[in-house]
Amino acid sequence: MHDIFGLLITFFFLPPSFSYTFHNVRDFGADPTGTNDSSQSFLAAWSAACNDGDPTSIWVLPGTYLIQQPVKFSGPCRSPQVGVKIMGNLTGPSDYRALGDAPAWVSFHEVDNLYVNGGTFDARGPALWACKDSGTACPDGTTTVSFTNCNHLRIKDLVSIDSQKFHVSINRCQNVRVIGVRISADGNSPNTDGIHVQLSTNVVILHSAISTGDDCISIGPGTRNLKIEHIRCGPGHGISIGSLAKDSQEPGVENILVKNVLFVNTQNGVRIKSWARPSSGFVRGIRFVNAGMLYAHNPIIIDQNYCPQDATCPDQGSSVRISDVVYKNIWGVSATPTAVRFNCSSEVPCSRIRMKNILLLYMDEVAMSACANAIGEAYGAVQPSSCLDGAL
Ligand SMILES: *[C@@H]1O[C@H](CO)[C@@H](O)[C@H](O)[C@H]1NC(C)=O
Ligand SMILES: *[C@@H]1O[C@H](CO)[C@@H](O)[C@H](O)[C@H]1NC(C)=O
Ligand SMILES: *[C@@H]1O[C@H](CO)[C@@H](O)[C@H](O)[C@H]1NC(C)=O
Repeated sequence: MHDIFGLLITFFFLPPSFSYTFHNVRDFGADPTGTNDSSQSFLAAWSAACNDGDPTSIWVLPGTYLIQQPVKFSGPCRSPQVGVKIMGNLTGPSDYRALGDAPAWVSFHEVDNLYVNGGTFDARGPALWACKDSGTACPDGTTTVSFTNCNHLRIKDLVSIDSQKFHVSINRCQNVRVIGVRISADGNSPNTDGIHVQLSTNVVILHSAISTGDDCISIGPGTRNLKIEHIRCGPGHGISIGSLAKDSQEPGVENILVKNVLFVNTQNGVRIKSWARPSSGFVRGIRFVNAGMLYAHNPIIIDQNYCPQDATCPDQGSSVRISDVVYKNIWGVSATPTAVRFNCSSEVPCSRIRMKNILLLYMDEVAMSACANAIGEAYGAVQPSSCLDGAL
């Protein structure tokens, strides 16, 4: 009774000016047949929405929209809340040189209460991947969708196909919820990370499927309070914290939960990696819980001597301090004999690593584990048996 009364009161006392507006990109000249470049129309619709005094949204009705140039949707907005409802396809230019080395193809900056719902983003990456493969000079490529300095951000049911580089990037954002995202690119495509998070706090990534050529989810410096749950990853390089120690001054990574994840044909499962050089960064308070591995090459790995193929790598010993890392309920099949590898820094060993209920097989037998400079303890049934140094 009381609730209904409250509801009625709210209803009758809404300010008379309350309204919810929307801006259809077609009213700004967008071409749903994918022939003419719609980037200016999208920017005009954004400007109208962002300057609207009311909660508002942009509508992209079904169709294919060519976004030929990088588009930057900037705030701060007058609107207290901006929705971007996309029912159509956004396709990138057929010539990758049109995007060049832009930081992102579609980017949002300094927008609070932003809701991005739906949309298929096809950046047409394969031509650039082929260029990179051929060893000739090519642009670095661009991230498909990026969010920078956004507070209260919701991303729902977004689809990204064939990014040039990263698919989705979340940078300096707070209070972010990503749900129902689907990402796909070829398993050999270069640097096509699925979702990259850095310098961001209170981020949740749920119920998403990612198959790509680099990390499914990569967690960069300055990420705090990140929860990743119900993810299917593969092909791809797994869920990675790092690479860290890219710079000598770097904020740490703290309080990360990765739970209920299935890795299928991935290079890694759950990974922490840093370059072997001094850095102020750290990694602590990490929990990897309930993970299935179906042919992951390195199901559980910490690599503080990170050196991807034939790069010239530092070899000084990483000073990134890794501590309080839990691995619990992790099972499945490794694609290599060594399923657990803790290759920690000789400068600052990994500490308080805890393993509980692990079963990883290699060709019908229990796999192996390898440790260097790793201190911690194993509880319950842990197979392969732990190689951690005792004494927490
Ligand atoms: C595409 O652009 C051409 C040239 O400006 C114009 O004549 C045509 O009407 C446009 N098509 C659509 C569907 O907007
Ligand atoms: C988007 O593109 C995909 C494949 O490119 C196609 O299957 C789908 O029907 C398109 N959707 C819309 C809304 O145009
Ligand atoms: C750690 O990495 C170094 C450099 O790649 C390598 O030589 C060493 O064998 C690795 N140790 C373990 C335990 O994986």
